[in-house]
Amino acid sequence: MLKNVRRTHRCGELRAEHIGQQVVLQGWAQSVRDFGGVAFVVLRDRYGLAQVTVDERCAPSVKDELGLVRSEYVVEVTGEVVARANPNPNLPTGAIEILASGIKVLNKTEPLPFTAETALQAQEETRLKWRFLDLRRPTLQRHLVIRHKASQAVRRYLDGEDFIEVETPILNKSTPEGARDYLVPSRVHPGQWYALPQSPQIFKQILMVAGMDRYFQIVKCFRDEDLRADRQPEFTQIDIEISFPTEDTVMEVAEGVLRAMFTEIRGLTIDEIPRITYAEAIDRYGIDSPDTRFGMHLKTLTDLVVGSASTVISGGLANGGVCRGMNVKGHAEAASNKVLNGYTEFVKRYGMGGLLWGKVGAEGLTGSLAKLLSADEAAAVVSALGGEAGDLLLVGVGAPSAVNPGLGRLRAQLGRDLSLHQHEFSFCWVKDFPAFDWDKDSQRWVAMHHPFTSPKPEDIALLGTDRAGEIRASAYDLVCNGYEIAGGSIRIHDSAVQSKVFSALGIEAEEAEERFGFLLSALRCGAPPHGGIAFGFDRSVMLLAGTENIRDVIAFPKTTKAQDMMAGSPSPVDPAQLAELHVKNLG
Ligand code: AMO
Repeated sequence: MLKNVRRTHRCGELRAEHIGQQVVLQGWAQSVRDFGGVAFVVLRDRYGLAQVTVDERCAPSVKDELGLVRSEYVVEVTGEVVARANPNPNLPTGAIEILASGIKVLNKTEPLPFTAETALQAQEETRLKWRFLDLRRPTLQRHLVIRHKASQAVRRYLDGEDFIEVETPILNKSTPEGARDYLVPSRVHPGQWYALPQSPQIFKQILMVAGMDRYFQIVKCFRDEDLRADRQPEFTQIDIEISFPTEDTVMEVAEGVLRAMFTEIRGLTIDEIPRITYAEAIDRYGIDSPDTRFGMHLKTLTDLVVGSASTVISGGLANGGVCRGMNVKGHAEAASNKVLNGYTEFVKRYGMGGLLWGKVGAEGLTGSLAKLLSADEAAAVVSALGGEAGDLLLVGVGAPSAVNPGLGRLRAQLGRDLSLHQHEFSFCWVKDFPAFDWDKDSQRWVAMHHPFTSPKPEDIALLGTDRAGEIRASAYDLVCNGYEIAGGSIRIHDSAVQSKVFSALGIEAEEAEERFGFLLSALRCGAPPHGGIAFGFDRSVMLLAGTENIRDVIAFPKTTKAQDMMAGSPSPVDPAQLAELHVKNLG
């Protein structure tokens, strides 16, 4: 405990056991109510609320002092802790009040756009502009405390396993994590640029080559990508790398980190975390970050409708199309046309042409499915989906690249909307990802994780053949409640394999040397086998805190348009500054 502080207690810590003590408190006047004979100030600090009372027992000067206090003024109160006349069981400090002997205004405030109590009535944009006021809200303060405790718990765990925290450069060379870079011009080297790290990937691998054995860092990463509720342009990773690991070693460490956070903060017992392959994830859930808090698995129906006379179905099945569906149990009655149109619009966002639906009733199937399918096909589909009276069947036909994410995301949304979740948290590992993904726009293979991920040893022979699409990676993602909270892999430690992977990705030897020469050179200098993982720390804290908005767990977040509303960034800069950096504004 610090000795050199004026306050004797924190507002939120006073209890009946303090009755009779003289205290000094400092904080914000959350509310001031004067009823004539008796007046109350509710004083707030990070630790809670305490009621300060001024009545006929107090000296007249105290009443005058109270008269100067307004809502959200900063005040210091001296007084005695007494039993409350009307205890408030809803407040931790509700058994007591402070009978004031002195009230001093330490600072005033101008009129505020909102207070800690009224903040949620304001638009999020206003709250972000006045972030210091919004952060006075107990909920946000609690989130920052959770964040702090989680990072401490993770540091303790990793330190205990001999991981050392090493800082890596922020002014960097571009790292290929698949997003656009944030660039910083060099003043000293005209026309040359640094990139802010999308992750410390290459540096942590080089630390393994340097013999550091076990590394971690809680570190900011920067990605200029389209933002969503769970994405920020600058975010924090718990970044980990290990020498001489197997996939199981990395997963064991990651589970240790996960337990450090979820067990210490939420008291959660995490049993063995199920592992499924990427192929199984797509088969059951349509997506590779499945929400496993509930079932409602997708089923493949292609074989049952392959001979359909309907052109909608035969057209959808042409060129490798599939028919897949799911059963929303007992939802037939609630699914009005409006609701079904909403689902259709939803899946169209993922490239599906439309959504077929059927309601199972006493008389059989009704709806668009019933209209398009023959009686036999309909019966087979109902049976495959386990349809019973009252169920709503949702079916998609078309390219797997549209049907899987369309139905998969709709499933996750329905899980939320219909409260289908059976657990507060459900974790799963997704592994054995394809190494490469075919990018239609650029007509080339791109790395599904990043180009330093090792193919599975048994698939390495396929490198350089026309079967690149079949190569699986030694890569694994940790998923919680449908959010990818960590991703990692065993790395390539052989420079010849690394060159082959670059070549499969269409990165020519010269370009590879130019972009990643320092890594290739390190790999040629006695690189140990190594692998690692990175947690999205903001996402993890978001789940720990029970919110679905990543901005709620970041002290100074950016909007979905990558703006800091409070500081006002990005913003124009002085032309002289630009000139010094050899940069011309074309915009
Ligand atoms: P990856 O790109 O999968 O892997 O990132 C790791 C984790 O970081 C989180 N994350 C984000 N969180 C918030 N906002 C974003 N824009 C954002 N992007 C990613 C996710 C993700 O699982 N270098 C590799 C790790 C490795 O291979 O060791 C990497 O960065 O939770």
